[in-house]
Amino acid sequence: MIRKVKGTRDILPPETRLWNEVERTALRVFEGFGYSEIRLPLLEPTELFVRTVGEGTDIVSKEMYTFADRKGRSLTLRPEGTASVARAFIENGLGQRPRPMRLSYFGPMFRYERMQRGRYRQFSQIGIEILGAATPAADVEVILALHTFLAELGFDDLVIVLNNLGDPEDRDRFITGLKAELAPHREEFCGDCQRRWNENPLRILDCKVPRCRELVSETTPVAEVVSHDAKEHVAAVEAALDAVAIPVRRAPRLVRGLDYYLRTVFEVISPELGEDTVICGGGRYDRLISDLGGAAVPGVGFAIGEDRLVDVLPQSFRDRVFEARVVTVLPVGDGGVAAAAALARDLVRAGVTVHTEVTGRSLKASLKWSGKMAASVAVILGETELAEGVAVIRDLARGEQETVSLDRVVAKVTEMVRGGN
Ligand code: HAM
Repeated sequence: MIRKVKGTRDILPPETRLWNEVERTALRVFEGFGYSEIRLPLLEPTELFVRTVGEGTDIVSKEMYTFADRKGRSLTLRPEGTASVARAFIENGLGQRPRPMRLSYFGPMFRYERMQRGRYRQFSQIGIEILGAATPAADVEVILALHTFLAELGFDDLVIVLNNLGDPEDRDRFITGLKAELAPHREEFCGDCQRRWNENPLRILDCKVPRCRELVSETTPVAEVVSHDAKEHVAAVEAALDAVAIPVRRAPRLVRGLDYYLRTVFEVISPELGEDTVICGGGRYDRLISDLGGAAVPGVGFAIGEDRLVDVLPQSFRDRVFEARVVTVLPVGDGGVAAAAALARDLVRAGVTVHTEVTGRSLKASLKWSGKMAASVAVILGETELAEGVAVIRDLARGEQETVSLDRVVAKVTEMVRGGN
């Protein structure tokens, strides 16, 4: 037997219905806030991620699916979406359009990570980005859109944490101070942090090794050394979120695992998955597009890990998606086949979900199958009934049935299903 690649998943029905409804809700909410979908390639030049996410990050240094194509070009299966959005923004001249540009995306990303619950090598993200607005109002909008989406799904226990990374100049100053504070303990850090010390010291704050965490826990928070402007920016974001009753908590050592961020960074934590398996990450990246050779276009956005989100969906959402609303159409004998096909078409067009019996079962077996499909109504098309221009509609929950003329079947069934049978 051929098995799936380690770290990839088969998402099976009925679970896929949860994914579909999450995506529909995302599109509805984000479109509501003015975000339009952008569809981007899964393959990008490797250099795109090296220059944006950063050479010294875990993502670029050890997690990318990178390979040479047949012409020897280095390609990478995208590990995230923001770099591609920035590339597409520049390449398609989106800067010519009215600002800001509000974009949304969803789809698979690839990172060669150690497998565990909520951590896969192919996973899906749902994200939005707003490009061309440097104001705190833009940060507020994306966090508001995120909060609205999560509330629409029925979440009430997720925590938004936020930090201020300052501007790149502040960060240089912060890193000098951080290294001075940690220098006496340098030998105690893990092997990865020894490497990070020279290559990308900020990432030491991201290390998951308990001893490293302990060592950094007393260091001066980055938000304390940032410029006045950066402080005002994030304070304005926090004040506005407070004013619209969106609770956010400061996380003084949150730095995020990608190099392009500045000022506002945030994550969403679920109590069930814990702080190492965050549901969503985002932040501001005002230099990303210019670093890629574009104009000075600021940006802010986030990406939600859909696999993790679906894993912890509230029961109320699951119940709503899986609510039984299926109708089975059961032809009895060959004579019922054409009538069943036509009825199925009419029911589908009336918005009803139909499963038609097509395996040639007996009526008894068909009714048993209807039960397994969690159908609430079965329409039986017997040859004798059809000859009389009628069908039998059976309410499977109540075990009652009635005979209805064929031209009234769609109206009757629709009424029964809508009535919550
Ligand atoms: P990120 O924090 O690297 O940010 O990823 C965003 C989310 O993707 C994470 O919070 C997590 O839920 C999910 N995720 C990441 N890796 C995995 C994995 N191996 N398995 C399952 N889920 C995973 C970014 O990617 C940024 N581009 C977000 C952003 C958009 N910032 C600004 N705009």
